Amino acid sequence: MKLIVTDDYEALSLAGAEIMAEVMAAKSDAAVLVATGDTPMGIYRELAARRAQGRLDASRLRIFQLDEYVGVPPQDERSLYGWMARSFVHPLGTPEASVVRLPWSANGLEASCRAYDQAVQSAGGFDLAVLGLGPNGHLGFNEPPCDAHAPTRAIDLTEASIESNASYWGGTHRVPHRAVTAGMAQLMAAHEILLVVSGAHKRDILRLTVSGPITPDVPSSFLQQAANVIVLADRAAWPS
Ligand code: F6R
Repeated sequence: MKLIVTDDYEALSLAGAEIMAEVMAAKSDAAVLVATGDTPMGIYRELAARRAQGRLDASRLRIFQLDEYVGVPPQDERSLYGWMARSFVHPLGTPEASVVRLPWSANGLEASCRAYDQAVQSAGGFDLAVLGLGPNGHLGFNEPPCDAHAPTRAIDLTEASIESNASYWGGTHRVPHRAVTAGMAQLMAAHEILLVVSGAHKRDILRLTVSGPITPDVPSSFLQQAANVIVLADRAAWPS
């Protein structure tokens, strides 16, 4: 695990954008998994600015969706696909046809999850997985307790995740209780993982992630066993 601690969120966003831009420059058709949530938004804004300045070309990128709420269609403002499209796919100019999506409908969900894992495998795994850190150590919606080999699948959200997602949509009553997530197995097999963590409220779970026992009760602790992990945190989040 490589640890990078920045002074503040702005510096974190610049550092994260640099790491992502390097991956894209080295491989224009890189397979990139991108989280939504608040933390990576500064990174995506910086990448979009670079693209607008002609400093970055993401037109050949292959983008993979990390998670989705079950029963929430793309036109719903809470769609995580929609959030990813608005914050990353469109501003970077990657065709939507180059996005490997997760299902949102309960119909045929299992088959769609298998197709997703097949697509990840055909891509040779993720070149880069950009992840945020859940308050309970979830990665994507790999909720605790979680098996390190868990595939892409539907899960019930924990209370902690419903609480943390409430701030996105204006209250817990607006947070769906079921979701689909890229599997822990697919995340762990990424060639490179960038975990972005910001804010003092993440300090305890970040400590458990980087130096606590490796346990299904803290899914992010499995990252201690993954190949190329960069933990990019701001000073507020860093457990010093
Ligand atoms: C979002 C996702 C979640 C978030 C995590 C942290 O697609 O998969 O795992 O990354 O809950 O969220 P923020 O960044 O809002 O603190």
